[in-house]
Amino acid sequence: MSDQSYNIVTLIRKKRDGKALTEDEISYLIRAYTDDKVPDYQMSSFLMASFLNGLNTEEAAYLTRSMLHSGIVVDLSETPGLKVDKHSTGGVGDKLSLILAPIVASCGVPVPMISGRGLGHTGGTLDKLESIPGFTVDVDLERYKEILRKQNIVLVGQTEEIAPADKRLYSLRDVTATVESIPLIAGSIMSKKLAEGIDALVLDVKFGSGAFMKKHEDAAKLAKTLVGIGEEFGKQTIAYLTNMEQPLGYAVGNWLEVKESIDCLNGNGPDDVMEITHLLAGTMIYLGKKASSVEEGIEKSKKAVEDGSALQKWIDIVEEQGGDSGVVKDPDTYPKADAVEDVKSDRSGYVTEMDAFAMGMVSVELGAGRRAKDDDVDPQAGFVLHKKIGDQVEKGETIATLHTNKEEMLVSAKKGMLDAITIKDHEPKSLRKITHRVDKDGIHDYDG
Ligand code: URA
Repeated sequence: MSDQSYNIVTLIRKKRDGKALTEDEISYLIRAYTDDKVPDYQMSSFLMASFLNGLNTEEAAYLTRSMLHSGIVVDLSETPGLKVDKHSTGGVGDKLSLILAPIVASCGVPVPMISGRGLGHTGGTLDKLESIPGFTVDVDLERYKEILRKQNIVLVGQTEEIAPADKRLYSLRDVTATVESIPLIAGSIMSKKLAEGIDALVLDVKFGSGAFMKKHEDAAKLAKTLVGIGEEFGKQTIAYLTNMEQPLGYAVGNWLEVKESIDCLNGNGPDDVMEITHLLAGTMIYLGKKASSVEEGIEKSKKAVEDGSALQKWIDIVEEQGGDSGVVKDPDTYPKADAVEDVKSDRSGYVTEMDAFAMGMVSVELGAGRRAKDDDVDPQAGFVLHKKIGDQVEKGETIATLHTNKEEMLVSAKKGMLDAITIKDHEPKSLRKITHRVDKDGIHDYDG
């Protein structure tokens, strides 16, 4: 990389006028911003110009590279085997990481997983893990490597050394309305994932009311960009486009989702959760070279649940990271929220639609998510659905149970839940849970 310096206003103007920046220019900008030589107001202007005019594939790769090299790339060579991680673009009730990480690790593939916190209406893996008493997600790099070496799995948050440019840029994007840009999202996700020290990556790119990308075509574009960047960096990357038109599974909220994940590891998981979990886990096991095909990986994933090895791995990692495995072994001992109230259906018929975004906001209102960056989340808050799209319901039947320690929110949360669920006389068409696979050869219809 050259040491040439650039006039920041010239770079902003270039992007404002829809021109492409060179690798040196992007690298200079990111380095100068990370070193506090570019103020937030100039970076905000650049971000908005990028949001409005887009970044081409090369610029997205330069941005990823610059953000990746703003910190270190972790060397995990002391743990044998190909390290494989999974990333989801985020949804409501998306607890898949908690289930698939122990499955994949128990099948012999190391899983170094660095996750995030809840964002807007979506939940975050770190908040879910922290609902387990004692579980710590804040570890330094040496401990990160040690846990992986010992357990073949590690579940932590972003450290100071991992893509610090993304950390700063992400906060700035959050307050400048520049989050929902495909190249900016792709650079942000991939810089963090590539810094973890992985060899391969599986991506769950969601579309629908509860996803950041509402439209299928935008999710497809994001998936292609993410896979393109992964492959450009020499990491085998496979993405699936999955449906987020309704919450995944029945539970939404931090502990409630951990509890449902334990049910899944005990072999009692909901069909939608298990189908996507086994596909993603099977693909990770294949990429980690512990299966000769995705199909064989899926069989291994199912077996790890059936024979209890995935559940045992989950107990091991909870204990390794300081968590109380007593509540994992007996989830009913976990204390309940002060208010647990049913929402009854106001009519009979079939559930035809769920507004997953609105339901995510109900869970935030109940205390499970944040309204401001520094808010605490309530581990007990959230809701459990009793019905999903396609189910028949009678007037007066319970469709959801709300859990909260903010009793004053119950009236509006109940209304929000009823408004988010559409009930009609006729059965709806069934939803396709997984529509496409995206890999280095392009996008393929998924008919698994
Ligand atoms: N998740 C990320 O890590 N970054 C984004 O920009 C959006 C979702």
